[in-house]
Amino acid sequence: MPASALHTRLGLENDWMIRARIVGTGQYLPERILTNHDLEQMMDTSDEWIQQRTGIRQRHVAEPGQGSSDLGAPAAAEALEHAGVDPAEVDLVICCTTTPDYLFPATACLIQERIGARNAGAYDVSAACSGFVYGLATADAFIRSGVHKTVVVVGAEVLSNRLNWKRRDTAVLFGDGAGAVVVRGEEGEQGVRNVHLGSDGGAADILVMPTGGSVQPYEQHPLESEERVAIDMRGKELFRKAVMAFAVATEKALAAGELTIGDVDLFIPHQANTRIIYTAADRLGLDHDKVYVNIARVGNTTAASIPLALDDARKEGRLTPGANVLLAAFGAGLTWASALIRW
Ligand code: COA
Repeated sequence: MPASALHTRLGLENDWMIRARIVGTGQYLPERILTNHDLEQMMDTSDEWIQQRTGIRQRHVAEPGQGSSDLGAPAAAEALEHAGVDPAEVDLVICCTTTPDYLFPATACLIQERIGARNAGAYDVSAACSGFVYGLATADAFIRSGVHKTVVVVGAEVLSNRLNWKRRDTAVLFGDGAGAVVVRGEEGEQGVRNVHLGSDGGAADILVMPTGGSVQPYEQHPLESEERVAIDMRGKELFRKAVMAFAVATEKALAAGELTIGDVDLFIPHQANTRIIYTAADRLGLDHDKVYVNIARVGNTTAASIPLALDDARKEGRLTPGANVLLAAFGAGLTWASALIRW
């Protein structure tokens, strides 16, 4: 067993411990943009309502036939280029998605082929909007145990073709896109410090995509029926649970890292709604200028939301070496997750 694996198992810490460090980030957004004004032409809604209630101004939408792997592969390729890592060195590709290209094979396998990661294993992680942090936690565990050295974690979503574009309660919220990171095992203080994963399956019915799975296969719904593609969501209830989930996930991550909220340099939350984000930040006592928000431009991109925000933050120079970066997410399941990273 490698020394680092033994070390972790014994619960010991010292300076030479291997940590999972994010060494590259990338993203890809489909070209087509749908603004709130475009949506006004499609359903009974307004730019004012959407901006006030969610903070969203526009979202990107994939072309027909464009799958999550078509978005995820260029995002992963950019992350590898930024990291300066040869695709042949990648040990594992994890794709976090609620909208896989197919029921099988995994979308990660398609991305693996496209980026030339010929020596890697590949599989998908399904934890809805918390998916990316679940994927990052998996990469962290593989790396700290010494099983793998280099892992690519992708969040990729094409939710637009699973939305009912007549339903204003959900259609205005989501967007398509992909973000990716390259995670490597390195000695030193930088990297993932701790992760926290949570789930409450008892609240699964608050946010559901009921069709297309084994319980309600598409064959039960005629092509033209509105139920064929429709997310069931109880928005207000979810809003309250989301604020709670952010608080729990954040407090757990900080406690495990023996940090307080004042030590956080940048908070990168799942981008579902600016009101949820700032309500959670206020409850945590976090200054708004330490909260990263890009939802206005991309909407809620589900599992792609955090890696997209990470890449935007990096490109804006907001991720400085040594900064304490806190990621937190919530989503269908209900799931929630957090990760504390020393950048
Ligand atoms: N445009 C215009 N009006 C809309 C609308 C839209 N897109 N969607 C809903 N409305 C209307 C409602 O019909 C309602 O009208 P009424 O008062 O005449 O009945 C009114 O606006 C208020 O609706 P409500 O659902 O109470 O609004 P809200 O303040 O709770 O905001 C959400 C709705 C969805 C934005 C909010 O509940 C939310 O963000 N919830 C969490 C959703 C989420 O995060 N989902 C993803 C999880 S990863």
